[in-house]
Amino acid sequence: MAGIDTNCMTLTRFVLEEQKKHPHATGDLTMLLQSLLTAVKAVQTAVRRAGIANLYGFQGTTNVQGEEVKKLDVLANDCFINMLKSSYSTCLMVSEENEDVIEVETEQQGKYIVTFDPLDGSSNIDCLVSIGSIFGIYRKISNETPSIKDALQCGTELVCAGYALYGSATMVVISLGKESGVHGFMLDPSLGEFVLTHPKITMAPKGKSIYSLNEGYASTWNEAVKEYVNNKKFPQNGKSYSSRYVGSMVADVHRTLVYGGIFMYPPSASSPKGKLRLLYEANPMAFIIENAGGLASTGSGRILEIQPTKIHERAPVFLGSADEVNEIIALYKKHNITQ
Ligand code: AHM
Ligand code: MG
Repeated sequence: MAGIDTNCMTLTRFVLEEQKKHPHATGDLTMLLQSLLTAVKAVQTAVRRAGIANLYGFQGTTNVQGEEVKKLDVLANDCFINMLKSSYSTCLMVSEENEDVIEVETEQQGKYIVTFDPLDGSSNIDCLVSIGSIFGIYRKISNETPSIKDALQCGTELVCAGYALYGSATMVVISLGKESGVHGFMLDPSLGEFVLTHPKITMAPKGKSIYSLNEGYASTWNEAVKEYVNNKKFPQNGKSYSSRYVGSMVADVHRTLVYGGIFMYPPSASSPKGKLRLLYEANPMAFIIENAGGLASTGSGRILEIQPTKIHERAPVFLGSADEVNEIIALYKKHNITQ
């Protein structure tokens, strides 16, 4: 029938086919991703119905970061935790919304650790601007009872990472490693399935001329960031760059992945590591961007190589097209910023 793909590549089928390339795979990761996708579908339904279902506004509590928690944050967090537990493939979780690691009951435990931000860009919920969910998946390393130590792995150890973007369409972008690449799947509402629409997303060294950061904080930037942004606004030669900033990391990173350019959340004197959290914001996004051919840096080092010491620690973020990120890295060196 015209317009209907009778043999479409769903995300579940894609993951199963990836699994078949690894003869020793047990299928646990497939089960985990299947459950995670159910959570994403439930969250996207809640996001689309939030205005009607009275889900806007605050829950009346604050989270571990001292931020006010919104009703949708709580719902999304419950969806992720319950679905992941029911996959029988995780043993430990780290969520932006929970102060401590979330342990899975012994009888439900599996070998994976999942870090996630169930609903990123909370400040944009009530005005219908795009928001998203971010996740990272690690293998349990120790043979001991799952503990915080298992969650404090470098981003280089990620088995899989991705995000869901609740934008004008719902899309999941996922990577199972450099070799497998980065792939985008759009939710087909008529099927209730994620369908491969963006296979093998790659970033050229130079993409569109776009820089993205919160310019309201310009007075707090270090000399490297000041010089970079100044060069883009007042170039010696050529056209000035465009500025784009949604204020939802998932939307800003997705645009950077698809169009190129750079996304930044730099440090400031009062927040020397910026705002974004390493385990469930910076690392999964760095994994996606690097596996698509871009770069992800703190300005003075590779994000994925940071050894975490706390589950909610933060990291400065510069990610995007290699040429742009290399320019920031060179300016950090020029100004001797080692942080
Ligand atoms: P959140 O997890 O509480 O939503 O905060 C993270 C969000 C990111 O999505 C976004 O990049 C950033 O905060 C925006 O922060 P700011 O308003 O300081 O520019
Ligand atoms: Mg967040």
